[in-house]
Amino acid sequence: MKSAEIRQHFLDFFNEKQHQIVPSAPMVVKDDPTLMFTNAGMNQFKEFFLGNKTPKSKRVADTQKCLRVSGKHNDLEEVGIDTYHHTFFEMLGNWSFGDYFKEEAIAWAWEILTERYKIDPSILYVTIFEGDQSEGLERDMEAYNFWKKFVPEDRILLGNKEDNFWEMGDQGPCGPCSEIHVDIRSEEEKQKVSGADLVNQDHPQVVEVWNLVFIEFNRKANGSLEQLPEKHIDTGMGFERLCMVLQDKQSNYDTDVFTPLIREIEALTKTEYGTSIEVDRAIRVIADHVRTVYFSIADGQLPSNTGAGYVIRRILRRAIRYGFTFLGQKEAFIHLLVSTLEKQMGDAFPELKREQKLAFNVIREEENSFLKTLDQGLILLDAILKGTKGKELDGAKAFELYDTYGFPYDLTALIASERGYTVDEEGFKASMEQQKNRSRAAASSKAGDWVVLAQDELEEFVGYDTLETQVKVTRYRKMTTAKEGDFYQLVFNLTPFYPEGGGQVGDKGYLEASNGDIYYILNTKKENNLIIHFTETLPTKLEEGFKAVVD
Ligand code: ALA
Repeated sequence: MKSAEIRQHFLDFFNEKQHQIVPSAPMVVKDDPTLMFTNAGMNQFKEFFLGNKTPKSKRVADTQKCLRVSGKHNDLEEVGIDTYHHTFFEMLGNWSFGDYFKEEAIAWAWEILTERYKIDPSILYVTIFEGDQSEGLERDMEAYNFWKKFVPEDRILLGNKEDNFWEMGDQGPCGPCSEIHVDIRSEEEKQKVSGADLVNQDHPQVVEVWNLVFIEFNRKANGSLEQLPEKHIDTGMGFERLCMVLQDKQSNYDTDVFTPLIREIEALTKTEYGTSIEVDRAIRVIADHVRTVYFSIADGQLPSNTGAGYVIRRILRRAIRYGFTFLGQKEAFIHLLVSTLEKQMGDAFPELKREQKLAFNVIREEENSFLKTLDQGLILLDAILKGTKGKELDGAKAFELYDTYGFPYDLTALIASERGYTVDEEGFKASMEQQKNRSRAAASSKAGDWVVLAQDELEEFVGYDTLETQVKVTRYRKMTTAKEGDFYQLVFNLTPFYPEGGGQVGDKGYLEASNGDIYYILNTKKENNLIIHFTETLPTKLEEGFKAVVD
């Protein structure tokens, strides 16, 4: 089965089971301060799980574009080194919002895998949550008993909180989960070691393909678990891994999701995949990263120097330097892969077609400018080596090259060794660690839980008619970011403040309390359909209401 058919088959199956098929949400998240990129299919449904919004349909399914390159779920360092992690990947998922629960989720997962996709049940293992005393959570015997109908008990394994209790991030919807793993090793290998011993042990041929999450809690900002009013299903299947299994391959990169890109990279760089560890890794890194960068540009996120744009720039630079160092590419070539990818995936994701030209130009520019930087770094490295006493290059200097010029350690070490020098790797790592600590501190941001004062569904914008009106605060929360420190976000029952958006800046102004106290509204933004007002301090006497005045 070709990957496009595998994707369609999944959607058709859940459509048969009365699921509405919805499009993937954009990969770049604009309206959630706790998340930079979509890292799971469920992100776009977060508010349904929490009960803050009502879905049109209680059952949906889709394929979601995901990025796991920052925050809680970050696979970047594995990518290219192994054969089954990706920065960008598709997550096939089905959801129930307060509708069906464990029994159907398990039965349907089994049905599609074994009866429709015809995966041999003897290569499958499943896991269930073993419970966790510190959280007051019991072993998930319910899931165990449903699995028992299909799977021999010695293939139902227990998993701890780390593997079998899924959380979106530090806060948000969560719950115990049940994973499905495949063992695609040869019979000979299976005789030597049982697959059961390799589940969740980072073995490249014993991998998780599907995670069924039984959402029933909300993790609060203070770390406690709150029972949600309803129970939900959130599943995520790794599309590229599923293709690996169904196409009888041993690596995601050998499936038709990646082979067209790999053939093109080979042709452009005059190299051959499968000939050396270093070349193979570099080809995998480039094939993976070009997908991330192109999809991200198609979703409106260009490489830049800050925030999400900076993450994308760094990923592209990682690809460029792998090409530079291991494939000998001194000229830009990654942008030439855009048309291959567009041909392959443009039908499933029309945004690729729409933004093909933009992606081509942006990637080419980025490549040219970074290759120039690499050239300058080479000149600098030469100068540093000339000034080095002895035969060891200072680790802090190597780090400076990395930090300022994006000059990777392995490249520095390679060139240094060609000139007869070694590099103080420990010193380099120490500088890197210091830098990480600095940026960790700078990036830390925290959103407190909303304190809801009044359940008011209707938050009306009245600013077209009036710039001054009496308002009540319906909810508020405290925010902390490294950049702005502490501030508050307030939502009103109605508001004269126009929110930021579509190129328009958000309204500013003030709130006046009945005793004359003034609280400045520093900005207004729309997030998750709420109009949010930013203040430096939390007004007192919230229950009395305020006169709201737009400047
Ligand atoms: N949300 C679950 C995951 O990402 C399905 O693994």
